Amino acid sequence: MRQKIVAGNWKMHKNAEETEDLLNELIDKLPNDIEAQIIVAPTFVNLASAVDHLEFTNIGVAAQNMHQNESGAYTGEISADMLKSIGVNIVILGHSERRAYFHETDMLLAQKVTTALKHDMTVIFCFGEELKDRQNNQHFNVVENQLRDGLFHIENKDWEQIILAYEPVWAIGTGETASPEQAQEMHEFIRETVRKRYGSDIAENVSILYGGSVKPENAKEIFSKPDVDGGLIGGAALKAADFAAIASAI
Ligand code: G3H
Repeated sequence: MRQKIVAGNWKMHKNAEETEDLLNELIDKLPNDIEAQIIVAPTFVNLASAVDHLEFTNIGVAAQNMHQNESGAYTGEISADMLKSIGVNIVILGHSERRAYFHETDMLLAQKVTTALKHDMTVIFCFGEELKDRQNNQHFNVVENQLRDGLFHIENKDWEQIILAYEPVWAIGTGETASPEQAQEMHEFIRETVRKRYGSDIAENVSILYGGSVKPENAKEIFSKPDVDGGLIGGAALKAADFAAIASAI
């Protein structure tokens, strides 16, 4: 059975004190009997305190990015080893904001994936089409290419450490959500694309999360779709009550 997962990507929000407050609220509000694995991704500077804070909980901590190289003269960057050294074993790679604002290409992401796997990290690999791609009926091609060029160099054994996150760019932070049917259609295509390249076992076991304006009001319907295994939540992850409601909808 594949794992259900609800992850909160906090993006560039919450200072040190606010991070502690939100974590405390989450510990308080998240029901103990949730079926899903819960992950939070605070900003780099608050990762170590989040790991400490969550030590005796089931909540995992993810970084929002990392550098592809092991170390070196890369001012302002963070390596896989640095993350591992503070107890962070999960990293989000390929988020559309990294692709759009920091020019991360599929080729670069392929390198980051390789480095993360080398360090035995779990990768939440994000991808998804832009509005113009969908309008031009290119959304399946775009997603297939992102998977092929950014991820499909990995070996079969590596899939135990991969979580896929489909995030249509037009639905991120816009309030516009893909309909549950659109999400299911794309998730089914993604699973089929993985199946063609890696076989049924891997395709059936990989968790595919949906991201893009998931809210307490729409989570249950989206999560009810057979190929949607959870969500990568942005804005609604910044309010403990909303995130807990979304996690409870799984
Ligand atoms: O990483 C999360 C996604 O970008 C979704 O963000 O829930 O604010 O639309 P959002």
